[in-house]
Amino acid sequence: MTMRVIEDLKPLRDMVYGWHCGGSRVALVPTMGNLHPGHLSLVERAKREADRVVVSIFVNPTQFGENEDFGAYPRTPSEDERQLREAGADVLFRPSAQLMYPEGLPPACWIVVPEISDVLCGASRPGHFRGVATVVAKLLNMVSPDVAVFGEKDFQQLVIIQRVVRELRIPTDVVGVGIQREANGLAMSSRNQYLTPLERQTAGEIYTVLNWIKERVEAGDHDFGALEQAAADRLAEKNFRVDYVAIRCAKNLRTLQAGDSEGVALVAARLGKARLIDNVRVTLK
Ligand code: PAF
Repeated sequence: MTMRVIEDLKPLRDMVYGWHCGGSRVALVPTMGNLHPGHLSLVERAKREADRVVVSIFVNPTQFGENEDFGAYPRTPSEDERQLREAGADVLFRPSAQLMYPEGLPPACWIVVPEISDVLCGASRPGHFRGVATVVAKLLNMVSPDVAVFGEKDFQQLVIIQRVVRELRIPTDVVGVGIQREANGLAMSSRNQYLTPLERQTAGEIYTVLNWIKERVEAGDHDFGALEQAAADRLAEKNFRVDYVAIRCAKNLRTLQAGDSEGVALVAARLGKARLIDNVRVTLK
């Protein structure tokens, strides 16, 4: 089947309804476009999880702060469409702002996930996760997928979306896919385009520092505060403006408690014009 580009709700719902009636399992990969190999790995995973794959592209205004890069966010619609055809997606869903926000902005209704939305990235990007949770809930409602696939680079986003789906009893399985990296370890991201060639090289240091934390924690060093500080100092020495380095519980992003076995080390730091995030899973004995 050649990929269809759909911009309205009715043809989208008719198509998914037809697939469901025929017994097909449907996957959704929500994106903001400007696709790179990280996104394509989500499409690959979606194809393994389901018979039909819908990829949405919508640069969601409500998840950008007033001083953030909504206007400048890279938009490459023709190239995205070409890549998705090649990757074998069935539908590219490209809704307008009017379709997503029929009452205009601010929206008539928000999905708010308290507490977890206000820490880490939420502390420096107030309102960001409210925008993400709202748009993802809308997309899940519009597409009705059996499974939705997200990248683990946005780890906090993934945990928040899992919470929305569970709390609203949305009948969609949420799947996280591991981070795709450049040769130097830099996590792939549309925002890497804001880096100069030299900054792009330096940016690999985030992954090096995360792996250093992983090694230390897994070797039994549980002085998390000292590890976070040492890692932040290392990044600052390389000219990063560190937002946070945090070692947290992978399930709920709270500080680790005795008995927790699955941890995650997370970094957010600015380099030049880019704000970079990354994380590495950490196992505690
Ligand atoms: O991760 C993203 O690209 C966005 O936050 C998402 C999930 C598509 C919501 O706009």
